[in-house]
Amino acid sequence: MPVRAPVTPPASAPSAARLGSRARVPLRARVGARIRGHRVSAVAPRAALDLDALDLGQTLGAIKRKETMLNLPPGKVGLFGARETFEYLADPNAFIEKRVRKYGPVFKTGFFFKPAVVFGSREAVEAFREFESGLPADAALPETFRELHTAYGALRQSGAEHEATRANFGKVLGRAALEKYAPILARQTRDFVLGEVLPGDCGNSGGFLTEQQKRSLEREGKIAIGKDGAVTTLASGDDVAGASKNPKLQPGYDLRQFCLRSLFELFLGIVPPEGLMNEMYAYNEGLLALGKLSPEFAEGEKALKTLREYVEKHYRTIRAQGKLEDERFFFLEQYSLARDERGDLFSDERVATTAILMIWGAYIEAAANMGHVLWTLMRHPEALAETRRETRGAFTSADLKSADPNAFELSRVFTKLRYCEAVVKETLRVVPQTAGGLRVNPTTRKFLEYDVPAGYVLTADPRVAFLDPTNFPRPETFAPERFLDASDPRRTKREEIEETGNDGGGVLGSRSRDPDAYFPGGVGQHKCPGISLSTLMTQIFLVYVTGAFDGWAPDETGEGSFDPEYVQIPIVIIDDKYRLELERNWQYE
Ligand code: HEM
Repeated sequence: MPVRAPVTPPASAPSAARLGSRARVPLRARVGARIRGHRVSAVAPRAALDLDALDLGQTLGAIKRKETMLNLPPGKVGLFGARETFEYLADPNAFIEKRVRKYGPVFKTGFFFKPAVVFGSREAVEAFREFESGLPADAALPETFRELHTAYGALRQSGAEHEATRANFGKVLGRAALEKYAPILARQTRDFVLGEVLPGDCGNSGGFLTEQQKRSLEREGKIAIGKDGAVTTLASGDDVAGASKNPKLQPGYDLRQFCLRSLFELFLGIVPPEGLMNEMYAYNEGLLALGKLSPEFAEGEKALKTLREYVEKHYRTIRAQGKLEDERFFFLEQYSLARDERGDLFSDERVATTAILMIWGAYIEAAANMGHVLWTLMRHPEALAETRRETRGAFTSADLKSADPNAFELSRVFTKLRYCEAVVKETLRVVPQTAGGLRVNPTTRKFLEYDVPAGYVLTADPRVAFLDPTNFPRPETFAPERFLDASDPRRTKREEIEETGNDGGGVLGSRSRDPDAYFPGGVGQHKCPGISLSTLMTQIFLVYVTGAFDGWAPDETGEGSFDPEYVQIPIVIIDDKYRLELERNWQYE
């Protein structure tokens, strides 16, 4: 199936002097000038790798796996799946795109050194759903992940044990929970956007630093480290000279720190010291370590222990003080009543571990989504204008300044921010941040017209479905209207443009509501229970960022670039050094 390669205009970096001389040109106009005349792809730019050559490894591998007489999907695994695995790890989205282009929406490959069948056509996902619940989930997870995710982690569990774990998710991630969280999220987002980004306190980090880097930068007088571990960059001559007065934001770094802080507070009821929260990064790296002997794994184990001890002590303390019923401890209160598959209450250690796993599962996904939304809207000024119209129509600047809980009541957010929701969904489609879940096929089976041998990983991959033009006509086009109700005037307006042919025609026939076509959080027994939370967080972020700012543009000074580079694993997220410059709205001058 032909899928077009992403087209990205080359970014030529203007010098600091040029940027300075254009300081009075609105940032939006600058972005417009850069993207005008180019066909702007909705798809994030990626590095191109070409390691795909027919090799002896595939033939030997097929003999070794005794599959020469079977009818497997197209593609290649190799002898041990190593080459495919490394190519995947280098750039997962490009890897998938290249194979979809070459083999179509069902293909075989090697994922994490295991033979795998990857698919995303609607028919394949439908067929997969019929037997997915009987497949063991944990067998496909890398060893380090399995270990650090702990026995309490849902991704490792199956059967009754998993069912009991999921039953508790509903209480802390379902609608009633989101009703409690919405006003808290509004207050947190206000403090961040109006209290930190707007006065210019963001965008000045060199990115996340290791303890050793911090020590040497502190010695060199480039940063200061507070008692709670917070890092402040001390302005250098370079930073001061010719610097623009516009606030800056590093979406990778700043949004990640913001989400980390927000989710700790949302789930624990307090914001721990920054040093403790940053242990989450070491934990994350440990999960993805290449083996249990690697130093990252040991650091990850240590980080998990530190986090666990902290959360467990906090949980015991508030329980002993009789504070569990306080609104802010809603999450912990729910887990104090949680029962496992035998009907036993969760141990304190399990409650603490669950809270850590939930913060881990949520913060980086929400941060990635927020950063990607800034990028898609910057690239599509008409969508940014529509978003702004919606958010400013629904929320006054007084609502924003007070983070009024009535204004941010959940049902109001849901009904007033339909276009923002569509932007979030379309952004997840064009900048997919996560793969699908991995399951191991226990017995040789027929899957569609193919044979899949025992031991193969099966994975319904959202990225494959997102690229399928039968699911999403003109998949390379960013069109939030795909996700609006048929009766929404903004969709009707797009329909009119398309009918008159001005826009090339036809994105609205999308299967955006079909769970076999649009599944950013996976399918089946382990499908994500938290997407609604990250969507809500991103919607509220959009309210604030489009309320306080009229637009934003890349900061191309120094090593800055027009488009970001991405960290690819474990999820796709804008890297730390990418920086945006934001244009204040007059009400916030
Ligand atoms: C846009 C944001 C998000 C995306 C794209 C995403 C994606 C995913 C995916 C692909 C899975 C694996 C499904 C599978 O194995 O089949 C998953 C599982 C999970 N996600 Fe998310 N996620 C997001 C946000 C969140 C948030 C905010 C939370 C909040 C805590 C969360 C919690 C979880 C949990 C607990 C699981 C494991 C479910 C299970 O094994 O039963 N996710 N997510």
